Amino acid sequence: MPDMDTIVSLCKRRGFIFPSSEIYGGLGGFWDYGPLGVELKNNIKATWWKAMVQERDDMVGLDAAIIMNANVWKASGHVTEFTDPMVDCKSCKRRFRADDIRGDKCPECGGELTEVRRFNMMFRTFVGPVEDDAAMTYLRPETAQGIYVNFANVQQTMRKKLPFGIAQIGKAFRNEITPGNFIFRDREFEQMEIEYFVKPGTDEEWHKHWVDTRLAWYHSLGIRSENLRVRRLDRSELAHYAKDTYEIEYLFPMGWSELEGIANRTDYDLKRHSEYSLKDLTYFDEETGQHIIPYIIEPSAGVDRTVLVVLLDAYHEEQVRGEKRVVLKLSKALAPIKVAVLPLLRNRPEIVDMARRIAAMLRPHMRTMYDDTASIGRLYRRQDEIGTLYCVTVDVQSLDDQAVTIRDRDTMEQVRVPINELKDVLLQKLA
Ligand code: GAP
Repeated sequence: MPDMDTIVSLCKRRGFIFPSSEIYGGLGGFWDYGPLGVELKNNIKATWWKAMVQERDDMVGLDAAIIMNANVWKASGHVTEFTDPMVDCKSCKRRFRADDIRGDKCPECGGELTEVRRFNMMFRTFVGPVEDDAAMTYLRPETAQGIYVNFANVQQTMRKKLPFGIAQIGKAFRNEITPGNFIFRDREFEQMEIEYFVKPGTDEEWHKHWVDTRLAWYHSLGIRSENLRVRRLDRSELAHYAKDTYEIEYLFPMGWSELEGIANRTDYDLKRHSEYSLKDLTYFDEETGQHIIPYIIEPSAGVDRTVLVVLLDAYHEEQVRGEKRVVLKLSKALAPIKVAVLPLLRNRPEIVDMARRIAAMLRPHMRTMYDDTASIGRLYRRQDEIGTLYCVTVDVQSLDDQAVTIRDRDTMEQVRVPINELKDVLLQKLA
């Protein structure tokens, strides 16, 4: 397992993730995804959407607004409950989460600490030109609420019967007191959330289904089993809305930590929104002829944490002919670049021209990169480090025999393939 600095440095050096607003000194808890990071992140989201929405008959999608009516956050309990305990150092003025502190002195300077206060983690903003209380609302701290307030819209327009779920991927914002561990704890991040509506009484069975389903999804990404575990939270750890919660945890460099939470939220959310909005959010159960408030099972995953897990798990260092080879063994679905086309000699215009034409031919069918900015050895090393699955090399012989070599990232084996068969051979390998 690499340490976090190794991954941070690879991400910066190879164009995955940069500190946000870096030229101005950055901003704590905010990160920018570079050209390869955005591909990896998009691949993760697409894989989740395909498995959780498109391949299931009981799921539909949603894309709700980030900024919502402030009453949503009163009803959800976030205005009163979404707080972390905070202390300030009276000497150096630094601020800490109270539950991160051992003892009663400042961990930085040994100074005296203030009493514990509750700090609400929602970012406030104003809608319209007047900055008064009536115009004040929040950036959403979770995507879930957009789903609850659309429960009736979705259920009625899609004619869904229980059990069914609504899925959403989107940004969330939390003014974390101590962001850190790279993209593990950010102030702006993305969530992939499912709110699965079930009949009361079937909730515990569905809870188990979703823990198993979500764990299997991480396995399908190629994450090693020994680095994943499921932990049931103690009563004292449960959020204000939860009856029971399991976490899928990963063995990060700082130890086992949450990757995804899967909560049984009971009828808390729909009941609260119904009370605050005075709208009927019940479901008519045709079997019993009764109106009921569904229970909700919520598998809630972080996109950024999944990016981090995927990178940590894929990172390998190997010795090849006495030299260190760094390779990201990303799965076929997740690798940002599937194929790199490389000319063996960059000062031979015929070879460069042929390589460019091959790259153009492949581009509509698979994410392809062309690179001629270094010697072939360095080009291979670069592609290994970003997880590119196959390198296609055009050499002098290619001009005569109209064939190229395909190099496999993991085995480093090379096979020679006629150019007119190349696309189909690669598509087969990628399937
Ligand atoms: N709707 C339920 C909910 O938001 P959560 O456990 O607070 O539950 C769910 O968050 C997931 O979102 C976490 O498991 C994590 O992957 C991700 N997440 C939460 N806070 C985060 C943060 N500050 N930075 C990055 N990811 C975060």
